[in-house]
Amino acid sequence: MRIKRSWVPLSAGGVAAVVLLVLGGANQRVSRAAQVRLSDLPPVAQNQRCEECHAEIAREWRGSGHQLAFSRREFQHALLREPRSAQAFCTDCHAPESVRERQGSAPGGETMVSAAAGELGVACTGCHTERAPGTAAESRSSGLGRTAPHAFMGTDGEAGCGRCHEFEFQGKRSHFPMQRTLSEHRAASSDSTCASCHMQRSSGSKHFSHRFAGGRDARYVASALKISATRPTPRLVRIELAPQNVTHAVPTGDLFRRLNVSVKLADGSELHRFLARHFEDTPQGRREAKDDRVHLVPRIVEFPLPPGTQAAKVTWRVTYERVAHLDPQREDEATLDGWSLIESGEL
Ligand code: HEC
Ligand code: HEC
Ligand code: HEC
Ligand code: HEC
Ligand code: HEC
Repeated sequence: MRIKRSWVPLSAGGVAAVVLLVLGGANQRVSRAAQVRLSDLPPVAQNQRCEECHAEIAREWRGSGHQLAFSRREFQHALLREPRSAQAFCTDCHAPESVRERQGSAPGGETMVSAAAGELGVACTGCHTERAPGTAAESRSSGLGRTAPHAFMGTDGEAGCGRCHEFEFQGKRSHFPMQRTLSEHRAASSDSTCASCHMQRSSGSKHFSHRFAGGRDARYVASALKISATRPTPRLVRIELAPQNVTHAVPTGDLFRRLNVSVKLADGSELHRFLARHFEDTPQGRREAKDDRVHLVPRIVEFPLPPGTQAAKVTWRVTYERVAHLDPQREDEATLDGWSLIESGEL
């Protein structure tokens, strides 16, 4: 499946598609119908309107990583580790509605995130922008059928995802991409788009899903790798990880996501290899030393076994880890936010 959208020229004629909004809610006795552009409303009220009319999509979005982008424990903990001066950088992307809320309000409180804006995380209007009045919403080929009572609400497609999923670290001395999912994706030169994988319609649903499965969905993560493990000689274990159904690196996203490939010997000792973006601290600041995540081509990890182990069986496993923080010198002592099993076996 491929999602394609053509732009509606801004000069498109026709009836001005302005929403007829009933201000004040349904239970008000004297309802005042007024012509209001959705984008004239404050951000929180605007998203509430979207949710009222698009209830099914709103249910999917509620509980998704996007809605929880600001309120999640993991984000709140990471935010506290940042100096105050850097916090606005983080919250502007994890709670973009707070930026819009501050626009046009009194000066001061530049980094403030209201409870309401925080709770919305990356909301409907974080991705959808109302175009100029008169820009008719296209009738959907997806079978939604009805004509939208508002101007075109399209997204910026992949570039829109890239606004948040591709960005630089903001250190004075260090300079490297904090995330680069869009350029990883583009390197694959695939016909798939971000949305064609991440917004697949669920069965029985006519619209593109807004759940956005990601790293917390263990089955989804596992679906991105084809793993085979062999023991070509008694003292060598070889594990091959080939990417499938994915364009960007596995794992992608946050800079501390990684795969933990390990072998456990009969005496209980373990050997580990982390497939990740590896960092090092230099006098010029932190820099990325190596990236050995699985991307585009299969990656082979080999474990030579110590003498005396050739007769006994070994177990192997591959897990996906969400690292909270780590010391680049001691990757095996990282603090984890969570992990899931991808595959394991015995040789
Ligand atoms: C008064 C009800 C109403 C409100 C408020 C509303 N929508 Fe819609 N919208 C519709 C209807 C009806 C359609 C036609 C398709 C359908 O039946 O879902 C539609 C279509 C759409 C489409 C597909 C067509 C296009 O323009 O790309 C998008 C995207 C969309 N709405 C997003 C939003 C967002 C975002 C908001 C909030 C800023 C919003 N809508 C608010 C009723 C509404
Ligand atoms: C305004 C910024 C913003 C935009 C635009 C945006 N995202 Fe995100 N996205 C985020 C943030 C922040 C998170 C992290 C949320 C979390 O898991 O805590 C996230 C998480 C995700 C996840 C992982 C969810 C999970 O539960 O692990 C996927 C997949 C994703 N985004 C895909 C997309 C795609 C595809 C697009 C474009 C259609 C897009 N995003 C547009 C900010 C954005
Ligand atoms: C992370 C980005 C993102 C967020 C957040 C988001 N959407 Fe979407 N939405 C998209 C993309 C991408 C599409 C599909 C193609 C397009 O219009 O560009 C889409 C499609 C839609 C459609 C058309 C559905 C169809 O199958 O044709 C509607 C309606 C819609 N969104 C409403 C909403 C509402 C309401 C919210 C908030 C509850 C919301 N969206 C939040 C990115 C997002
Ligand atoms: C061909 C299918 C496919 C395409 C295209 C694709 N993804 Fe993914 N994406 C996946 C799979 C499978 C996973 C789970 C494995 C992983 O974490 O890499 C995933 C994971 C993610 C995650 C979760 C990272 C984490 O660890 O929580 C984010 C964020 C994400 N994708 C964003 C994007 C964005 C943005 C684009 C477009 C620039 C995109 N994806 C294009 C299939 C795809
Ligand atoms: C330009 C947008 C942007 C900025 C700025 C940004 N992030 Fe993120 N952040 C994202 C996206 C997109 C994801 C999702 C990637 C993934 O799921 O791996 C994410 C994921 C995270 C996660 C993982 C959340 C989870 O679900 O486990 C943490 C923690 C986090 N960011 C903290 C921060 C902190 C702290 C800052 C400021 C130093 C920051 N972010 C700045 C876009 C941003």
